[in-house]
Amino acid sequence: MINTAIDDKSPYTSGHCTRVPVLTMMLAEAVNQTNIGPLKDFTLTDKDRRELKLAGLLHDCGKITTPVHVVDKATKLETIFDRIHLVDAKLEILKRDAEIAMLREIAEAQSDVGRSETASKTYAGRIAQLDQDREFLRHCNVGGEAMSEEAQQRLLQIATYQWRDAEGNMCNFLSENELENLSIRAGTLTAAERGVINHHIDITIKMLDSLPWPAQLKNVTEYAGGHHERMDGKGYPRGLTREQMSVQARMMGIADIFEALTAKDRPYKKGKTLTESLTILGKFKLGGHIDPDLFDVFIREKVYLDYGKQFLSPEQIDEVDLSKIPGVNLGA
Ligand SMILES: [Fe+2]
Ligand SMILES: [Fe+2]
Repeated sequence: MINTAIDDKSPYTSGHCTRVPVLTMMLAEAVNQTNIGPLKDFTLTDKDRRELKLAGLLHDCGKITTPVHVVDKATKLETIFDRIHLVDAKLEILKRDAEIAMLREIAEAQSDVGRSETASKTYAGRIAQLDQDREFLRHCNVGGEAMSEEAQQRLLQIATYQWRDAEGNMCNFLSENELENLSIRAGTLTAAERGVINHHIDITIKMLDSLPWPAQLKNVTEYAGGHHERMDGKGYPRGLTREQMSVQARMMGIADIFEALTAKDRPYKKGKTLTESLTILGKFKLGGHIDPDLFDVFIREKVYLDYGKQFLSPEQIDEVDLSKIPGVNLGA
């Protein structure tokens, strides 16, 4: 019922909420079957399966309260609409200002042909510059790649162009908020918006905690509520360490990340290939982010491939060279 509401608000989030439990269960079955390594004694009963699947379905239920323009923020300037159009309109004003300045100069020059020509050239130069700035700002707005120091400096310079607002005041070309958003170094979210997104896990836990779970489902909140924790205790919301979490909660963490990396339906990014996604996941194992033993099963039992065949497009399913994936331990 909650996922239906989330689907109505954000189909992308709904896709995530549908796929994470499937991937969690694939990993859980692989761990259930493995008879080597530290997880060889982990077993699943039908009761465990129901509990874990339900936790997967509800793991992001708190996103029901996350504002839609944050949850699906596709560009840096997007709010309820993409403010790039406001920036475009201000650029057009700067162009008109340049044209007026040129026409004035020509009018004052009267028969001074040299002065008129200089004014025309200055104008042409200014328009060319503004057109380049426009392309640059549109590129900044996309948030597809990390922003260089050079790009940051150029943005700061453009931000201080002057224009006259409706009250007749001279203002900086970009407002503080526009500048803050366009300066986002990676992705499309400001620190405040990141906080709003992260808040979903507090709400998830609060919502799940409020239910009178029967004994056979008593672990749903723990399983669902731990998917943003890290093995080294640097995750959120509780900063739990690996020892403080169940295997199931750690499984959910891997499923959540792998689904997000490979998802091809998000408005702010393309779905990564298996090799790209496993490379990131492997670094997360080495960096103390995800459970190393579960990562090993994920690789050894080829859970990523089973999942890929079911949910990814053919171009994402590349030939994975496991010897090049960080953290891979095929011996265990
Ligand atoms: Fe989440
Ligand atoms: Fe999630």
